[in-house]
Amino acid sequence: MFPVPGKLEIKNLAVEVGGVRVLHNIHLTVPPGEVHVLVGPNGSGKTSLLATIAGYPQYRVVSGSISYDGTDLLPLGLTERARLGIGLLEQRPPTINGVKLRLLLDYIGGDDPERKRFIEDLIKETDHAHLVDRNIHEDLSGGEIKKAGLLLLLARQPHFAMMDEPDSGVDMDSITLLCQLMNRLLSPEREHPAKRRTGLIITHSDVILGRVSTDKAHVMIDGRVLCGGNPRIIMKKIRESGFDSCVDCLHQGE
Ligand SMILES: Nc1ncnc2c1ncn2[C@@H]1O[C@H](COP(=O)(O)OP(=O)(O)OP(=O)(O)O)[C@@H](O)[C@H]1O
Ligand SMILES: [Mg+2]
Repeated sequence: MFPVPGKLEIKNLAVEVGGVRVLHNIHLTVPPGEVHVLVGPNGSGKTSLLATIAGYPQYRVVSGSISYDGTDLLPLGLTERARLGIGLLEQRPPTINGVKLRLLLDYIGGDDPERKRFIEDLIKETDHAHLVDRNIHEDLSGGEIKKAGLLLLLARQPHFAMMDEPDSGVDMDSITLLCQLMNRLLSPEREHPAKRRTGLIITHSDVILGRVSTDKAHVMIDGRVLCGGNPRIIMKKIRESGFDSCVDCLHQGE
């Protein structure tokens, strides 16, 4: 079941949603097996970027390209991209009334005994049995929604895993479990922790960075990826001086 880590490559991407240009001239590469972090102020376009990669049709690509493992994603719809192994834990996963989480997990397990066993073990180990008989995300607390969403993402075993603020609204005790799940997703072979899935995580805090190994952070402001570098150094700088320091730092380089 080990995934095939591929390279995500975005070139010169511009995107409109609701008739408004939200992403401008984005260049971003996540090499195979690396996990990158996307940070930026509210409304800067982080979720829009992940939704565009996943293939949500309301995000209209005006120019540029997105490829994964050499495959051009733009001609592919949401479902085809999911089949290719592109996975997303959404910032606000939708409620699906009348569909229990168990039904979706059974569907994901399909006829594959190994995957079915993996999903059952996952439910037991994470103590999530109480969530699987609930309708998907309906009346779940904020933290439970993130846990259920991450369980679904893990069950799918995507080749490329995107997570949009997996830690927001999650209490400090549950963060431990959440980070364990994230590590399990990103480093699926316990004996070979260096064998990693390709990933892209949005977060506003550095809680995850202390517990999940990440390779690079990118700063997004006003729909543009301004710079990238060591995640801990970038988060420290932002914590101390805010996002304005990123703009200043960039201008110094001009
Ligand atoms: N469907 C839509 N219709 C109109 N505007 C939209 C739509 N989706 C997003 N936007 C706008 O695009 C901009 C970027 O939103 P986005 O959700 O990508 O920001 P974000 O960086 O994820 O912010 P946050 O940190 O608050 O989650 C915002 O101004 C938002 O209002
Ligand atoms: Mg967002």
